[in-house]
Amino acid sequence: MSVAKKEYKRVTVKSLVEMKQNGEKISMLTAYDYSMAKIVDSANVDVILVGDSASNVIAGHETTLPITLDQMIYHASSVVRAAKRALIIVDIPFGSYQSDSKEALRSAIRIMKESGAHAVKVEGGAEIKESVKRIIGAGIPVMGHLGLTPQSIYKFGTYTVRAKEEQEAQKLKEDAKMLEKLGCFGIVLEKIPAKLAKEVAESVSIPIIGIGAGNGVDGQVLVVHDLLGMTHEFNPRFLRRYMNLYEDMGNAISQYVDDVKQRDFPNEEEQY
Ligand code: KIV
Repeated sequence: MSVAKKEYKRVTVKSLVEMKQNGEKISMLTAYDYSMAKIVDSANVDVILVGDSASNVIAGHETTLPITLDQMIYHASSVVRAAKRALIIVDIPFGSYQSDSKEALRSAIRIMKESGAHAVKVEGGAEIKESVKRIIGAGIPVMGHLGLTPQSIYKFGTYTVRAKEEQEAQKLKEDAKMLEKLGCFGIVLEKIPAKLAKEVAESVSIPIIGIGAGNGVDGQVLVVHDLLGMTHEFNPRFLRRYMNLYEDMGNAISQYVDDVKQRDFPNEEEQY
C-alpha cells in the first residue's frame, strides 16, 4: 500500500506520532559521525539514532557496555552538525541512568546541552520507570527500547530472539503500555516475534520502531554499517544488505596500494 507522504522540513517527535496516525512508515538509521550523518540525512531518513552500537561498530568492543557518556556526546555532536532534517535521538549509555533517577536526568541533560540532540533513548521497562519519569518531567523527549536490550546482554547470555515465552511477552506488553503512559514518544522493539510486535504496535498510540520485529510495526531501524555491508561478520536473519561495502572498499584500497607501489599514483595531472 503506498501512502501519500507529508513533507517535513524538520522531523520532530510530534511528526513521528503524526506519521503513525497517517499510516506512513518511519525510517530510522544509526549514524555516529559527521560524514555518514550527512549522507543519511540527505537521503531523507526520518530519524538518526546515535546508538551505543558505536561501541561495537566504531570502537570494536564486543558489547555496548564500555562506551561512555562523554564518547556518546562526542558522536552525537558530530551528527548534530550534519543533520538538517532528521530527528536526532541519542542512546544514554550503560551505567549512566540505571543507578538512580537523578543520575539519569543529569546524563540526559548533558546529552541535550552538550550535543544539541533532540531526544534520548533508554533500555528497559518497569526497572527504569523512575528514571524515565524524571527525564520526561524535565522536558526531554524519551524513546524506550524493549525486547533484546543489548545493555543487558550478560543477563540474557545470548543475542537470540526475546519474548518467545508467554511470561516475557506479557511483561513486554505491560512495559510498552507503561512507557506510553509515562509519556515516551516512541519505543524500539528489538528481535522479538513479529506477531507480538504487531500486537504491541496496535495497542499503543505512540510509534513502535522495529529491528528484527517484523513488518507489523510503525517503522524500521538498522545499523547503517550493516545495511551498507561494511560489517560482514554480522548476519542476522532480519538484516537486508543494500551494498557490500566491505568488499568494495577493500578492493578500492588494494587498488590504491598497487597504484602507489607501481608509481602510477600520483600521475602528472594529480600533482602541482
Ligand atoms: O544502539 C543501537 O544501534 C540501537 C539500535 C540497534 C536500535 O539501539
